Amino acid sequence: MKRSKRIEALDRRPVNKDGYINEWPEMGFVAMSSPYDPKPSIRIHNGVIVELDGKKREEFDFIDEFIADYAIRIERAEQSMAISSLDIARRIVDINVSRKEILEIVSGITPAKMVEVINYLNVVEMMMGMQKIRARRTPANQAHITNLKDDPVQIAADAAEGALRGFREEETTVGIARYAPFNAIALLIGSQAGRKGVLTQCAVEEATELELGIRGFTTYAETMSVYGTEKVFIDGDDTPYSKAFLNAAYSSRGLKTRFTSGSGSEVLMGSAEKKSMLYLETRCLYVTKGAGSQGIQNGSVSCIGVAASVPAGIREVLGENLVAALLGLECASSNDQSFTNSDMRRTARTMLQFLPGTDFIFSGYAGEPNYDNLFAGSNFDAEDFDDYNVLQRDMQVDGGLKPVKEEDVIRVRYTAGKAVQAVFRYLGLSEVTDEQVEAVTYAHGSKDTISRDVATDLAAVEDMMKRGITGVDIVKALAESGFEELAESILSMLKQRVVGDYMQTSAILDEEFKVMSGVNCPNDYMGPGTGYRVDGRRWEEIKAIPHIIDPDNF
Ligand code: 5AD
Ligand code: CA
Repeated sequence: MKRSKRIEALDRRPVNKDGYINEWPEMGFVAMSSPYDPKPSIRIHNGVIVELDGKKREEFDFIDEFIADYAIRIERAEQSMAISSLDIARRIVDINVSRKEILEIVSGITPAKMVEVINYLNVVEMMMGMQKIRARRTPANQAHITNLKDDPVQIAADAAEGALRGFREEETTVGIARYAPFNAIALLIGSQAGRKGVLTQCAVEEATELELGIRGFTTYAETMSVYGTEKVFIDGDDTPYSKAFLNAAYSSRGLKTRFTSGSGSEVLMGSAEKKSMLYLETRCLYVTKGAGSQGIQNGSVSCIGVAASVPAGIREVLGENLVAALLGLECASSNDQSFTNSDMRRTARTMLQFLPGTDFIFSGYAGEPNYDNLFAGSNFDAEDFDDYNVLQRDMQVDGGLKPVKEEDVIRVRYTAGKAVQAVFRYLGLSEVTDEQVEAVTYAHGSKDTISRDVATDLAAVEDMMKRGITGVDIVKALAESGFEELAESILSMLKQRVVGDYMQTSAILDEEFKVMSGVNCPNDYMGPGTGYRVDGRRWEEIKAIPHIIDPDNF
């Protein structure tokens, strides 16, 4: 066939390098509504749910049972289920109906009913819903801080710069599993060098992650994964009960935690039971609620390629974020793993959370160039900082970041590197040279840094763990090496673990280590003239982009 030059040009566009698939409900490739999704129903007998969404209690799998026993307010259920799904959907966008009223209604509806409600909303209505329903008044942002070499000095520097740029949470992970404790302490030290009060986590295998938390090397945990079918849960050697137990283990040590879930995982694992992605994810969110977690990282997360391949998949992702908020959970709304070759498509996807604001718009914005991102690359990375800042300025929207000055970037990166050098020296760990600190101070990524000796580092990690070093030892090392302010900050982070206020829903800390959560700073949006508005000092920050014409210079 003779080809059209127009069509050939279009065929070459990045968007056509992405993968797309038609709906195929039998294999779970369906976003919002599968012909096999159950119809909403509930029956209560002697205070126990004996039928849920068309299934009798005898037929329940462990997810149904967990949801029936822990995630639905039984005394509300009959009243809430009697309200039509369309009516609930309309109240979600009605500015005259408060967040509180909606959460009260929704606390008594079943997963299938929740899916029906969400199906009535288009993306603009979902954004209106999110603007009102998210837990915390002010939105925030989370960064990934990793590098290909697991270089702790670079982790500290990138953490410091990320904190300076406004991230309220920073997350690391490892290339080499045994590096985890170094990554965690480098992140802890670096983050506080950039801005006080930033929370940090190290996403690794569960037992290690828990130990890092107990030692005070991290200040929150996030990747307690839950899944929407029993088969997938069991494949991961887990159940809703084991996750609830793990959550309680963290909580008992005063650590902030959230679960992780997201559409597409059941499809990838081959056990979607013909259900829609939204229905399965809604089950995950009910399990999260039932397990007593304050929040969730969701929005397909690492499975975004699956959701993005089907019709209305990106609408579904916002839909599942909204379900999280409707259940009263803190929502760290993904926008993390990269899923497309198209700059237009990746930006459009992010606008759905950026414009209304969520508790954490990204649950992993790459605070380094994507080649260093060990979470498989993020939807936005360090090279997008200025684009992102301009988007905030263009629309007067708070996306959680701010423009920074080059001299400040260099200063905090240097301080972070020097602090890690001092701690390593004080604790007798592997050496950090002045040349390494200098290199990471000015680096963009690990291609610009001096490689460390991995074997020596890993031996030092092992030794440090054997000696029982904890967060308190890091505080001491900093205090006795001339980094008193940094020592004070890390001590303040450790104190949170005793105070416990930052375990409230959607908590972040300000620079005085005061908690701002959905409890003491709740979202009070009820239409124009209410809720969070970008103004005052925050607006001045957002406006201060580099490369700008200053009228005062004329
Ligand atoms: N469902 C459940 N857990 C997920 N994670 C990422 N995406 C999902 C999802 N869709 C969790 C996994 C992974 C970590 C980065 O986040 O635990 O290891
Ligand atoms: Ca994350």
